[in-house]
Amino acid sequence: MTAPVPQRIIHVGLAGLGNVGAGVHKNLEKNRDLIRQRTGADIRVKRVVVRDPTRARDVQLPEEVLGTDWHALVEDPEIQVIVELIGGTTTAHELVCAALRAKKIVVTGNKALLAERGQELFALAEQCGVPIYFEAAVAGGIPIIQVLQEGLVGNRILSIHGIINGTCNYILTRMSQAGLSYADALREAQEKGYAEADPTLDVSGWDAAHKAIILASLSYGFWIPQDKVHVEGVEHIDPADFRFAQQLGYTIKLLSVIRADDKGLVEVRTQPALVPLSHVLASVSGSFNAVLVNGDIVGETLFYGRGAGQDPTSSSVISDLCEAAAVLVYGARHSGFVPHGLYGRSKPVEDTVSHYYLRLTVDDVPGVMAQVAAVLGRRQIGISSMIQPEDLEDTSGRTTIVLMIHDASLGAMQAALEEIGALACVREKPSWMRVETLQG
Ligand code: HSE
Repeated sequence: MTAPVPQRIIHVGLAGLGNVGAGVHKNLEKNRDLIRQRTGADIRVKRVVVRDPTRARDVQLPEEVLGTDWHALVEDPEIQVIVELIGGTTTAHELVCAALRAKKIVVTGNKALLAERGQELFALAEQCGVPIYFEAAVAGGIPIIQVLQEGLVGNRILSIHGIINGTCNYILTRMSQAGLSYADALREAQEKGYAEADPTLDVSGWDAAHKAIILASLSYGFWIPQDKVHVEGVEHIDPADFRFAQQLGYTIKLLSVIRADDKGLVEVRTQPALVPLSHVLASVSGSFNAVLVNGDIVGETLFYGRGAGQDPTSSSVISDLCEAAAVLVYGARHSGFVPHGLYGRSKPVEDTVSHYYLRLTVDDVPGVMAQVAAVLGRRQIGISSMIQPEDLEDTSGRTTIVLMIHDASLGAMQAALEEIGALACVREKPSWMRVETLQG
């Protein structure tokens, strides 16, 4: 005979009924019995607040459930969990603070809010004795937060390499596989609903950077300051770079790299990078996300799935609601983010080291390579290979050279690039990217 499962009704207040909010409502209904049996809790959305209650929506709600003032959620004594899905960092911040002070568990998918104010919010959560859960904030439906908080809790995290922005991955995949320009690939992503009408947050790299801050903070036990991360977007990638990358055995991905060195310095950066075609991350295509976590005990682990969209993201919110229900039914577990003292310092981005890809448009005359090599050589930067595609020599006397560079710090590389860019024989701004070997 199975032991009876305690039953409790958990009343939820939902702020935001956009794509994800509607998915949470729909999927909670869809799997209500299963969730009740698994968690011992009946999770019910008691109140929903939206900006415009007259807007047509897929979800039909009784009139008394819907409102426009988020204070109604905080002030309702029956509501024990508040789900924040309104986005932004102003009203969402006020709501989360008020919810914590009212001793309500917070569930949020708001990566920008956590990246910007995580330290303060988790301190407040600790002070108020209620947790913040945020599985939906990183990589949509992939349960990567639980992986770091629970599955790999006994590991020191050596590194994380993530493709954690579906919009950029879709754009780069189409540029690589269909030879589209950046502008055409972006337009296509917008037509298919992957990219927002204003895609700035995604294509600038900042959406992925916000997620990287969260993953790095969980991994290294101190909240990573936003001004210590390095971020580059995908707007400047040229289709020619995909052709050269391919010839050299690579593709290009917007990669978030999180890593601690042996002195405990933590680097967090998001930028387009060359990834070996033979590596599993190279085959993560379209709007999919993947996160490769290397732990000192477990070794390499890979998590793959949809990083955005109504159903995948609502799956993560529902997982947090079940965690909240477990806390309320069975007693407290963890509070969201647990600081620890093993690390605590961010590595200056100038000191981070990698290989590089460098494409130069130069005068097609003898001695050009010698000038470029001399600049690199003076800074102890080694060239590992070079190609000069003959089909790109043009009648104006210019040609293209592509160099692969050995390990160099970003600081040394930036200084060399400045000097190379100023050479009279170099005719366009140098185009360069990191090459990630994905080892360790
Ligand atoms: N816009 C994001 C993406 C999903 O394209 O991955 C939400 O962070």
